[in-house]
Amino acid sequence: METADFETDLSLFKYDNLEQLPVNYRDLTEDQRCARIRAALEELGDEVVILGHNYQRREIVEHADFVGDSYELSKAAAETDARYVVFGGVTFMAESADIITDDTQSVLLPSMEASCPMAGMAEALQVDSAWAEITAATDADIIPITYMNSYADLKAFCAEQGGLVCTSSNAHRAFEWAFDRGEKVLFLPDKHLGENTAHRLGMEDECVEWDPWDPTSDAEKATEKDIILWDGYCQVHERFRPEHVETIRQEHPEAQVVVHPECRREVVEAADVVGSTSTICETVASADPGDVWAIGTEIHLAEHLARWHPDVTVLPLCGDACMDCNAMRQIDPNYLCWILEELRDGVVHNVIEVQPAEKELARVALDRMLEV
Ligand code: 13P
Ligand code: SF4
Repeated sequence: METADFETDLSLFKYDNLEQLPVNYRDLTEDQRCARIRAALEELGDEVVILGHNYQRREIVEHADFVGDSYELSKAAAETDARYVVFGGVTFMAESADIITDDTQSVLLPSMEASCPMAGMAEALQVDSAWAEITAATDADIIPITYMNSYADLKAFCAEQGGLVCTSSNAHRAFEWAFDRGEKVLFLPDKHLGENTAHRLGMEDECVEWDPWDPTSDAEKATEKDIILWDGYCQVHERFRPEHVETIRQEHPEAQVVVHPECRREVVEAADVVGSTSTICETVASADPGDVWAIGTEIHLAEHLARWHPDVTVLPLCGDACMDCNAMRQIDPNYLCWILEELRDGVVHNVIEVQPAEKELARVALDRMLEV
């Protein structure tokens, strides 16, 4: 496989046409900004809805009409009649919202650099080449499954090849759907979610990793197994180690641990509960007063949970070493103020628009997910 060309063709920022924040919005105080956001929203009324992912900063989440995990946000996008969906999240989520909303609606991403690095680890161009190599090495039917954390062109590719999309909450059902229709699965881009799902289905011995950057990756060897895991990962979740769980249990013997399935296998094994960001929210919301929960996910969510549930002790699983997501962090509240005021004044910025052909296919992959 020729990897050198890919390095120049692949880009971290999918939408490099999006605009920067004007200088006069850079130094607003929180009070000024909140007052201006509220005033713009008042005038915009039902024209606009703000969706916020659980990892967004407090200053975004506080203005959101709906806060949730990536699956819930796409459902909220599908259900809204608002003309403009302002998305507090990353580009792949805004793309999914655009795929799911109708043609009269526009999805706006306040800030240009909110691109998930993991989604960028499996670009369709690169997957296409690996697919040719892998499928040539076996007669078995392979079904591609892509995690929601991927771009629309990869979702479209999966639909074209008979596959589908999944989220962290329905990955096991997507695997079952795929194994009803084929003999092997290529799972993209998160190897940890793939491995954790294989374990859940008792197929842990059937996993093999595929490193797209390694020219010695051997397709014949890979296809000896039934689950081929693309070598992508989330740097926020990879940081957690089983030692963090051990330390929390030593320091807080009463603590329970909930982690996201993007964490390494050993961390998921050591935890008490594993699930999507909304499962993590529900776990803490249903805790009894005085319970202690350590949270193995992005730091903003741990901070929200501590704020939303003051009667529960909420601890970040690896203390000060817990990371924020640098893609999510790009949605600066000043950008939100700017995009809303401009919208009120009739100027639409930073529209995320998936190409029609891609949109149609990606929709098929998302619809298959909704059926599982
Ligand atoms: P959820 O689908 O659980 O919200 O997770 C999205 C994500 O980006 C996790 O890193
Ligand atoms: Fe991507 Fe990880 Fe950020 Fe989620 S937390 S958006 S997977 S980088």
